[in-house]
Amino acid sequence: MRTYLVTGGAGFIGSNYIHYMFEKYGEQIRIINVDALTYAGNLENLKDIEDRSNYTFVKADICDKEAINRIFTENEIDRVVHFAAESHVDRSIREPEVFIRTNVLGTAVLLNCAKAAWEKEDGSYKEDKRFLHVSTDEVYGSLDEDGGYFYETTPYAPHSPYSASKAGSDMLVKSYMDTYHFPANITNCSNNYGPFQFPEKLIPLIINNALSGKKLPVYGDGRNVRDWLYVMDHAKAIDMVMEKGRLFETYNIGGHNEKQNIEIIHMIIETLQEMLPDSDPRKAKVTKELITFVEDRKGHDRRYAIAPDKIKAEIGWEPETMFKEGIRKTIQWFFEHEEWMKHVTSGDYQKYYREMYRED
Ligand code: NAD
Ligand code: TYD
Repeated sequence: MRTYLVTGGAGFIGSNYIHYMFEKYGEQIRIINVDALTYAGNLENLKDIEDRSNYTFVKADICDKEAINRIFTENEIDRVVHFAAESHVDRSIREPEVFIRTNVLGTAVLLNCAKAAWEKEDGSYKEDKRFLHVSTDEVYGSLDEDGGYFYETTPYAPHSPYSASKAGSDMLVKSYMDTYHFPANITNCSNNYGPFQFPEKLIPLIINNALSGKKLPVYGDGRNVRDWLYVMDHAKAIDMVMEKGRLFETYNIGGHNEKQNIEIIHMIIETLQEMLPDSDPRKAKVTKELITFVEDRKGHDRRYAIAPDKIKAEIGWEPETMFKEGIRKTIQWFFEHEEWMKHVTSGDYQKYYREMYRED
């Protein structure tokens, strides 16, 4: 039985990945989820699997060497899937240091602990050990509106403290592969959406605000482009890279689904109008009048777009969920999880939201 150490498994993508893995492998794997439970980590995301005998949660900070080392010495870890990070660009602009700490230092601690546990005396590694570092397409910087894609060979040119800290963590993983022959892969993925996404990111924020009759804030002219991927397609890609990817390689993962932010917002409004029954009082409030153009994000990257050619050619992965289907599934999930939304939008998140958008 293979043991996976998942970092940041209580967050958005990590919790979807854990669900995907148990669905696919059932009792054949064991998962240890280490998460510090920051504002973005929510154990409610894993309620349905918390009692499984092949699942363990460890509350720890990935920067805490002792705690991470303990996990490696007490367990024979075969796979590390490293999601834990500070992940929101706007927060990184307000508070860069926490991003550098978790994303760079935390990755270094994790690499060191895995290396110490897996390296043999002759410098080679125990058999079948693998570390997968989950990263973002934002490390490549920004594309022109009228063309071009990010490839694995595109030079790094991060702009925000978030993307710079992720670029730093990628470079560390690369250096461990080059220097120590450390058995790793890096994946750089485009924007994800789906269940359990914290409503500070565009899609869940717009769904939540529209349902509450609140303004829908659009940064700048609303024409910035992102390449959206349904989160379960990302989970599947990570598993496939782990199983079929060539060691030491980077794989870009993307949705072939470029959309301007304003298009996304219009699609969400239209889909909500289609899905809400006439008897629902929220239906009348979900209108385009809620769209409000606000001050642009500082250093706002114009366009991201991935060409996922390498992962398709080498591994056979392709995005499966069309945006229209994915957004319906996501909205349906939010309809069915009103309590989840109430819980995450209380307390700290509310305070952050008021500061960010300067409103009550
Ligand atoms: P998220 O913010 O929803 O979750 C991050 C998780 O990491 C949370 O559970 C949090 O508690 C945990 N965490 C934060 N700091 C920690 C620390 N010091 N020690 C231990 N745990 C800590 O993020 P997400 O959107 O699920 O992203 C997961 C990963 O995927 C990140 O590395 C991110 O850079 C990458 N990524 C995200 C996207 C996206 O669209 N969301 C796209 C590409 C790549
Ligand atoms: P976000 O979900 O924060 O992801 P990222 O910045 O990592 O791509 O933002 C997606 C896009 O939506 C980005 O261009 C910024 C924009 N945006 C808004 O226009 N309004 C908002 O309230 C938010 C959160 C984002």
